[in-house]
Amino acid sequence: MLRWRCALGLAVAVCHPTGCGRPAAPPAPASASATAPPELELTVATLNLYHDKEAWPERRVPIAAALRELRPDVIALEEVIGHETLRNQAESLAEELGYQLTFSSTDPPGRPLRYGNAILTRHPVLRSEWTRLAPLDDSRTAAHVRIAVGGRAVNVYVTHLHYKVEGGAVRAEQLRDLLAFIEETDGGAPSIVAGDLNAGPDAPELAILDGRFASSYDALHPGARDDPAHATLNPHFFPDDHRRIDHVYLQRGRLEPLESRIILDRPTAAGRWPSDHFGLVTRLRVSPADPMGWRDPSVAPDARAARLLAAMTLDEKLRLLRADFGDASDRHPMPPGARRSAGFVPENQRLGIPALHESDAGLGVVTRGAAAGRAATALPAMLATAASWDPDLAYAGGAMIGRQAWRRGLNVLLAGSGNLQRDPRAGRNFEYAGEDPLLAGTLVGHAIRGVQSSPVVSTMKHFALNDLETGRNSHDARIGEAALRESDLLVFELANRIGRPGSVMCAYNELNGAHACEHAWLLRDVLKGEWGFAGWVMSDWGAVHSAGRAALAGLDQQSAGEVFDREVYFDRPLRDAIASGQVPMARIDDMAGRILRTMFVQGLFDRPGETGAVDLEADGAVARRIAAAGAVLLENHGDLLPLGRGVRSIAVIGGHADVGVLSGGGSSSVIDPRGDPVTGLSPTTWPGPVRFHPSSPLRAIQALAPRARVRFASGEDIRAAARLAGQADVAVVFATQWTAESFDVPTMALPGDQDALIAAVARANRRTVVVLETGGPVRMPWLERVGAVLEVWYPGARGGEAIADLLFGVVPPSGRLPMTWPRDEAQLPRPQIAGAGLGSKEPPAAVIDYDVEGANVGYKWFAARGLEPLYPFGHGLGTTSFARANLKVVSGDGPLRVYFDVTNTGARPGIDVPQVYLELPPGSSTPLRLIGWHKLAVEPNKTERVGVVIEPRLLESYDARAGRWVVPPGRYRISVGGSAGERGLVQELQLPAPR
Ligand code: BGC
Repeated sequence: MLRWRCALGLAVAVCHPTGCGRPAAPPAPASASATAPPELELTVATLNLYHDKEAWPERRVPIAAALRELRPDVIALEEVIGHETLRNQAESLAEELGYQLTFSSTDPPGRPLRYGNAILTRHPVLRSEWTRLAPLDDSRTAAHVRIAVGGRAVNVYVTHLHYKVEGGAVRAEQLRDLLAFIEETDGGAPSIVAGDLNAGPDAPELAILDGRFASSYDALHPGARDDPAHATLNPHFFPDDHRRIDHVYLQRGRLEPLESRIILDRPTAAGRWPSDHFGLVTRLRVSPADPMGWRDPSVAPDARAARLLAAMTLDEKLRLLRADFGDASDRHPMPPGARRSAGFVPENQRLGIPALHESDAGLGVVTRGAAAGRAATALPAMLATAASWDPDLAYAGGAMIGRQAWRRGLNVLLAGSGNLQRDPRAGRNFEYAGEDPLLAGTLVGHAIRGVQSSPVVSTMKHFALNDLETGRNSHDARIGEAALRESDLLVFELANRIGRPGSVMCAYNELNGAHACEHAWLLRDVLKGEWGFAGWVMSDWGAVHSAGRAALAGLDQQSAGEVFDREVYFDRPLRDAIASGQVPMARIDDMAGRILRTMFVQGLFDRPGETGAVDLEADGAVARRIAAAGAVLLENHGDLLPLGRGVRSIAVIGGHADVGVLSGGGSSSVIDPRGDPVTGLSPTTWPGPVRFHPSSPLRAIQALAPRARVRFASGEDIRAAARLAGQADVAVVFATQWTAESFDVPTMALPGDQDALIAAVARANRRTVVVLETGGPVRMPWLERVGAVLEVWYPGARGGEAIADLLFGVVPPSGRLPMTWPRDEAQLPRPQIAGAGLGSKEPPAAVIDYDVEGANVGYKWFAARGLEPLYPFGHGLGTTSFARANLKVVSGDGPLRVYFDVTNTGARPGIDVPQVYLELPPGSSTPLRLIGWHKLAVEPNKTERVGVVIEPRLLESYDARAGRWVVPPGRYRISVGGSAGERGLVQELQLPAPR
């Protein structure tokens, strides 16, 4: 039995689109005694399931029995379906057989009603992903897994092409998409493509996939294709065109077909099942090309790492365990071979180990000097991605920056920031994904997946509880175990499961009295032990305090210690620790082995960074989409937005909106290749400079209202700005709040005179729209007087255009707050942050007591304390209205599923983000939890039935005394609504669900 269940917020997360599954098994300790892999046989079965939809409950039993007997290494399933009462076919087969599942579907994430292609395997999955094929309809996806079988790595792809579409154009597009996907993901290992490639009468398997593959079928049944009698071999050929084979295996690399036969026949005319279900099986031999070498991509990463380790000297191993600063500093010149990035491990020329080029960060490539110029596209703040509530967009953003990194010869991206927002003033909130563990864990996980879809390692950081910047290098963050597990650690647990980051960066702060980078419980017991994390732990820059203690606790690599730490602990002091016996050689092998294995898994050896052109136009479009989807419309009185195209005059005021949009500061701040349109703002040095991206809202507004008189006032002269506003039909006033790494802002007030400016503008013109470019919630003393408020966070490289799209309704606003918006600081667990503010002279607190709120972060704190925020978590307006009805909660078979109807009751098309909450029984330590959501577009007067699969972890609470997750028995309530404060549909539920 599989222990996991696919789940929603996490369907998004666990199953979609990566596929359900536990993380890959931790690496076997790399042993020096690796021997040549034996010759290996691989059995792959492929089945088409579509036509079994009615008969599935009955059909499942004999199919599972046949497969159990055959024990294929891999099962490729095409045209999988599921519906409200029936579990997805692939899920139920996977569970029945105990196989891991990877599912690909173009269905919106989080819906249990899923249709697509799937791969099941009983072997460890090294990586998995899927892609859409043109045209973008139901089953046109390709799924991929790379598995480790008998010490070898093999890729399996399954797809189902669009045979119905006549004409070559669509097929050619699909073929191109499929081949590009294979080239991007195969890592040089042998590949098998299974499924239905019958894209038309003239395309025997699309000319055997563009001449790059061979066909098992043709190899084993020569001439059969031209013989009408070959129906005996292929049960599903089309009588009018026997050359078409509906199921194929194409392979390349070191794969030799041994056998191909029918395993499940098509039913006879009098058959029991109203189905033309069928399946084929192929057996192949995997022959090693380089049996002893780590260079052979068909050898599994663990075995490659073990062989390489066996060839390495101690010096060579130790060199992997410390990265240098990859740029020039005032203390050191840039190391030879580095690319002006944050971290650098030189290449090992003797053994051909590629250099590691570690570059910031999660919002785009920050590095200044990497090859191929400085092309970099800044994503919006991660808060915008979180506010989109859209895992697909998180993936797209990650994929874009991962590709750019790779194209610039960088192979580690210091991305995946998943610290929880506990305070709206925290300086790095903009890099993080808000206050809720499910939302943040899901979106950060998908962003990591995106980055790692290129041969680039992503980190997940800052592990853990670096939730405030003030005194981050010294403060001790204190919290009880259960609260920690249910809050900050839950974000990382989910993100790790979804994203499988290659590396985890431990944080600066102490956690309950021990430095995060030498915290054995955190790194060794929880991360590597319980969660099965198979990658390497790197330190944050300046977070290491010891050699032996840190190494034994689980730190695998010190980052830029020569610049940021007191000592390069992982050089001489680590050697001393080995010599004294404090650190055993096995641990050194484990440390180096984890780095090497991850490099193999991510393809760093086989697909070295390609310095090539970056498509800034296409990449900018990704940033623009996220900015638009993540903007939150907080207020919209009298339907002020969207602005009509007929508007005659617009006053644009403040925020440097004539030239650009603001970016957050610190190590994640992307240097825009187009230059910075605003310079000289303080601070000009670390954590500055304060940067703007040259994406002018003013120009974008003018472009969408070409006939309107659009004028700008900087806002420095408040009276002049108010005068301009008074003369216009509409005033759009921009307010900015710069936040940055290394400090927290002392208050929630907008800096400078901006409140006075907005108040004056609103007095002059009630039709005032406030656009906020802030790192999070701010106080809004002028709120009653303005017409609309749009929070766009830091909107990235195409922010100006995205803002204009929203103002004019080119894109409907669909963002929802990923945090609670407090009225003021008095509502927070810590009304003051000692020492907050850039350059504050006040000493920071030595201890931060997070037990004040514990796991009750954000909306949970407000609910527990009975406080009314200004806007609840999940709030966001659209330009239409929705009604939700007919809640049904299904428990029993598989994970809990929640169904309800969403009706667009307004006049415009719109996007709803209904949210599912769990209200815990009275007396529980947490009152309320987000347990799932779904984002969907609904046309006016249309109703959509929504299904949400619930991630089981969200029903559990951590019992610290028993040391495990439990579902405390009791009466719970499931509620559905538009925010944590508006949950109209409610159903009671007894948990644990009766089995
Ligand atoms: C930050 C990390 C960053 C590193 C390298 C540190 O100050 O906390 O997030 O990746 O620097 O620039």
